Amino acid sequence: MSKPKIYVVGRIPGNTVEKLKEVAEVTYYEGGKEFNLTEKELKEKYGEDYALFGREIVNGNLSPPSEKEFLENAKNADIIMPHLTVKITKEIIDKINPKAIVCYSAGFDNIDVQAATEKGIIVTNTPGVLHETVADHAMGLILSVARKIPLSDAYARKEYYKSWGSELFLGTDVHHKNLGLIGVGQVGQAIVRRARGFGMTVYGFDEYAFELIQDGTVRPPEGIAYLRSINKLLEKSDFLVIACRYEKEGKRATHHLIQMEQLKKLGKKGFIINIARGPIINQEDLEKALEEEIIGGYAGDVFEGEHKSDAQNISQNLIKLRKNTVITPHTASATFETRGDGFKGIDIEMDGMGSLAYKNAMEILQGKKPLTLVPSQDYEEVIENGKKHGKKYDAVIKVQ
Ligand code: DGY
Repeated sequence: MSKPKIYVVGRIPGNTVEKLKEVAEVTYYEGGKEFNLTEKELKEKYGEDYALFGREIVNGNLSPPSEKEFLENAKNADIIMPHLTVKITKEIIDKINPKAIVCYSAGFDNIDVQAATEKGIIVTNTPGVLHETVADHAMGLILSVARKIPLSDAYARKEYYKSWGSELFLGTDVHHKNLGLIGVGQVGQAIVRRARGFGMTVYGFDEYAFELIQDGTVRPPEGIAYLRSINKLLEKSDFLVIACRYEKEGKRATHHLIQMEQLKKLGKKGFIINIARGPIINQEDLEKALEEEIIGGYAGDVFEGEHKSDAQNISQNLIKLRKNTVITPHTASATFETRGDGFKGIDIEMDGMGSLAYKNAMEILQGKKPLTLVPSQDYEEVIENGKKHGKKYDAVIKVQ
């Protein structure tokens, strides 16, 4: 049996790539122009910032390959394993024919799943492995923005702190406040568990979860009151956390779910925390609401302009709004465990994004249904479609 070909489009921490190489011929796209610069070149280019951030400077600048380079490698691949920055549109799918796209992310809004399904391309993602880590980060963002932690840190390092001040960096309490959740999936529920430790009252808005609870398919998570109206949720929330999936259109569309009207309803008492996807909030409206102090503050890990080749990831306006905002560069799931090989604790064992993507690839190469097919795909339908295109899904590796 000749070895199957896997195109890994972006760096993966941990052992995933090494393990893939044991069974497959792997083409590894490691990160683009900046990544290959030497320490000396980086020092010259970034000076003091290099001294502060080290190689993180490059870790946040992993440009995806050019379309030409992507297509050259993708055309021969049995499996493509892309980062979420790699857009695989219908036009791209028309030009490639892998067995599967094994996403190294929980979100898969970078893939045209419908076009993939029609062509018989299996699409998997990595749910169920990053919710605890992302929930940790969400709590970190809540605390950071409410208690002005990054700004206090910058102030202290500038040595302005000379004596205790009763009005120095007055923030707002987090404990026993109201937490509103848009999206009560795995991430949302992990946030609920943490919020209860802070004595918070949690309200949730999630039409999809509500339907499942109503028809008895799932049990309502403990410690959360479902609201059927988003306006009610906005009125009640001191901290509004966006934890739903991004869908541009359709019945469950969440594009610009939060605009000026909703921001006004949230009002001055309210802070927004976005750990889902940028375009769920209309960013122009958000910036205006922050500038005019229509809302209390904002902490975000994701941005509307992210990953568009013609735009900056984070808008200049948002960067300048330091007083009532905290921003992190899409790092909510960024731990060694979660981005890599997983977590082993006393009562919990979880894959990481890398090890789950590896397992999905292994299942597919053994002719089996992968562990985490994206929810919008039906496995049998994909296989049927693929067979019409002459595709074969038989085992191409043997795993002892
Ligand atoms: C995902 O997996 O979708 C996250 O946004 C990456 O951290």
